[in-house]
Amino acid sequence: MRFPAEPFKIKVVESIKMTTLEERVKFLEEAGNNLFSIPADTIFVDLLTDSGTSAMSDRQWAGMMTGDEAYAGSRSFYRFEETIKSITGFKHVIPTHQGRVAENLLFSLIANENTVIPSNSHFDTTRANIEFHKGTALDLVIDEAYQPELELPFKGNMDLKKLEAVITQYGKERIPVCMLTITNNSGGGQPVSMENIRSVSSLLKSVGIPLFLDACRFAENAYFIKTREKGYENKSIMEIANEMFSYADGCTMSAKKDGLVNIGGFLALNDTELSRRITNYLILIEGFPTYGGLAGRDLEAISIGIMEALDENYLAYRTNQVKYLADLLTGAGISVIRPAGGHAVYIDARKFYPNIKPEEFPGQALVVELYKQFGIRGVEVGSLMFGKKDEATGKEILPRLDLVRLAIPRRVYTTMHMNYVAEGLIELFTHRDSVRGLKIVYEAPVLRHFTARLERI
Ligand code: F0G
Repeated sequence: MRFPAEPFKIKVVESIKMTTLEERVKFLEEAGNNLFSIPADTIFVDLLTDSGTSAMSDRQWAGMMTGDEAYAGSRSFYRFEETIKSITGFKHVIPTHQGRVAENLLFSLIANENTVIPSNSHFDTTRANIEFHKGTALDLVIDEAYQPELELPFKGNMDLKKLEAVITQYGKERIPVCMLTITNNSGGGQPVSMENIRSVSSLLKSVGIPLFLDACRFAENAYFIKTREKGYENKSIMEIANEMFSYADGCTMSAKKDGLVNIGGFLALNDTELSRRITNYLILIEGFPTYGGLAGRDLEAISIGIMEALDENYLAYRTNQVKYLADLLTGAGISVIRPAGGHAVYIDARKFYPNIKPEEFPGQALVVELYKQFGIRGVEVGSLMFGKKDEATGKEILPRLDLVRLAIPRRVYTTMHMNYVAEGLIELFTHRDSVRGLKIVYEAPVLRHFTARLERI
């Protein structure tokens, strides 16, 4: 079978309603054409993010009832700790309320104006946490990652030559840690091969630099290794995950992705001294080490959810649902990042709207049309998110690509919803010549995409 059916049946439903075109036009006007400012219950299919938007299982909800809310030494923490250790093998497990807090804890202690932290591609919050401490964040993904339509099994891989050059240039003293984001969210949700993790790890070991995985989507990455990398066909997802983590010294994790929960995260590592320092800081900003900013019930939900995410039938359905949508769009001539990533479909907006100049935000124009016509929300990952106004000339400094990300929440939407999204996009594509670009009328000095207001040109 090309696309497996959902390996679950639905016990609880949440209704979604379709607004009218007139209502959506009014909401867009009020929001200054910024989808972050649109009330979520006016959205029919919400593909803004796969983070914290998963549907929990009956077993997770049951776990919420049995969570132990003790301030110190909660039973739910011990279960959580044991579960995370069984997957990662790391000695110390530090719960946090989401992924960026794990990053904050780590980089508060190891980053400063002299440090350089390489990754395949840093996610925005990781980069921001490094730069906040005046460190330098470098993206060293293979060049092929920048060719959207090139089909390669592991487009998230780190370029080893680039990594070697960086180590030679800065020296190991200035590199307290190297990261690998699995899967590579900023690069289209593309996986990293076991071979690449192993090689990066052995290069780093030879010079004594620790490797940390940004492990938010480690289960999806493990599934791609199983289905795409020779020698892993007959290994279980747990075995593959164990091997992935065995090459690393620690990880940061947003459990809002492959933990299948709505809130939660952790930091796990082997270095006892660093762990002790992090734990002291945790007590200051998050909470006692056995809850770290979460309720006992949240820890319980993560322990159950993260194991469910290792289920192969679930992962087959999950990754194939994303592929199903990508294939429908590719089949209609819409250019998307190939192959489909683990959690999202990324549309090439410059190709979708070739008549809209990059400085007139083709990605945002598409996101606005998609909501206006069909009540679907995606997110622009392009000139609005990453562009900057040049102080001297007033001109836009543009990123390499203008993408629209359609992130698929886990276990939330059915295949029919995917058909609905594809049909909407195909209709917009048919009428692509009639859409004009946008201009910014308000922008904040940093992270402008969250609050910018735009007008139609
Ligand atoms: N690392 C990666 C690769 C991520 O994708 C995210 C979040 C984080 C770290 C931070 O985790 O949100 O729990 O603090 N990504 C979300 C997204 C926001 O929409 O891709 P967090």
